[in-house]
Amino acid sequence: MISSPDRLFHILDPRQFSRPLLDELCALTTRVRSIAKAREGARALQTLLSNKRAMLYFTQPSTRTFLSFNNACHVLGIRTSEIRDPSISSEVKGESFEDSIRTFSSYVDVIIMRTWGEGMAAQSAALMDRIRRPVPIINAGSGKDQHPTQALLDIYTLERSFESRGGIDGKVIGLMGDLKRGRTARSLAYLMKSYSDVRLVFIAPEAFRMESPLKKHLSDNGIEFYETANLSEVISELDALYVTRLQVEYDTAEESKGYDHARFTVGLEQMKKLKADAIVMHPLPRGPELDPEVDSDPRAMYWRQERNGMWMRVALLVKIFGVENALGEFC
Ligand code: CP
Repeated sequence: MISSPDRLFHILDPRQFSRPLLDELCALTTRVRSIAKAREGARALQTLLSNKRAMLYFTQPSTRTFLSFNNACHVLGIRTSEIRDPSISSEVKGESFEDSIRTFSSYVDVIIMRTWGEGMAAQSAALMDRIRRPVPIINAGSGKDQHPTQALLDIYTLERSFESRGGIDGKVIGLMGDLKRGRTARSLAYLMKSYSDVRLVFIAPEAFRMESPLKKHLSDNGIEFYETANLSEVISELDALYVTRLQVEYDTAEESKGYDHARFTVGLEQMKKLKADAIVMHPLPRGPELDPEVDSDPRAMYWRQERNGMWMRVALLVKIFGVENALGEFC
């Protein structure tokens, strides 16, 4: 079952989100967060989906996506099961990936998955559709390819940060680091087609630049972008700087060896050049590209971004299960 404007089902790719849906999810995130602040509201939220069960199949390492989805489920009363290590599942006995997913779908109402391989969430969604099992698949990171729910929480963080300045529309957003293999920056860039007059600045060494399909998508959708390997050339123009780490886990040879961290790092020196009302984001975990000394700067948004992640995932589950109207009854 594919998603429609009224019904969100499988979450596979940022390109499935329209501007009205993004706006609705942002508003829903703020709403659930506000409801949860009061004890009564938190208790009411826990009844909302207490008849549902979720499978968290995370066979690629994760801290915050796993924990934020797990806790988002618990906020809504959804019971969770997990497999994080396939060596203790029946995959070790030779069970195929599709048979494993089909088995999960016998027990749960939603499957949230992070995989090393690209396209495995899409493959799982196609399987559910083929066997007519109404179990949504949520892509929580598919190899080097996409991380759509990270992009949603990034959109929410950007919208909140620019709330008094007209939101994301018209902003200059820099994305820096290993843009070739970084799925978070790619997924976020794909979502920019929904915003007006946004300009993207890709800051990366030649060998780690954004790949052509994304750039073609931006060109086809009239999104202006500029590429440079020189942060100091552009930093003063940015409204947001989205920093990402070197994705060494995808090295097949020694691709990362020549990466000059010093040129793609944010520290106190770079913060001096950033606008007073600009923000710094990072999907985390960080490496040397983001100096912990930046943490105490009010423009550092990454810890807030991390917290926003759980609430955006609560909103997403509410929308997937179509219970958003029930929120109206809550305080
Ligand atoms: N941002 C993110 O995906 O973090 P984890 O790898 O810790 O889930």
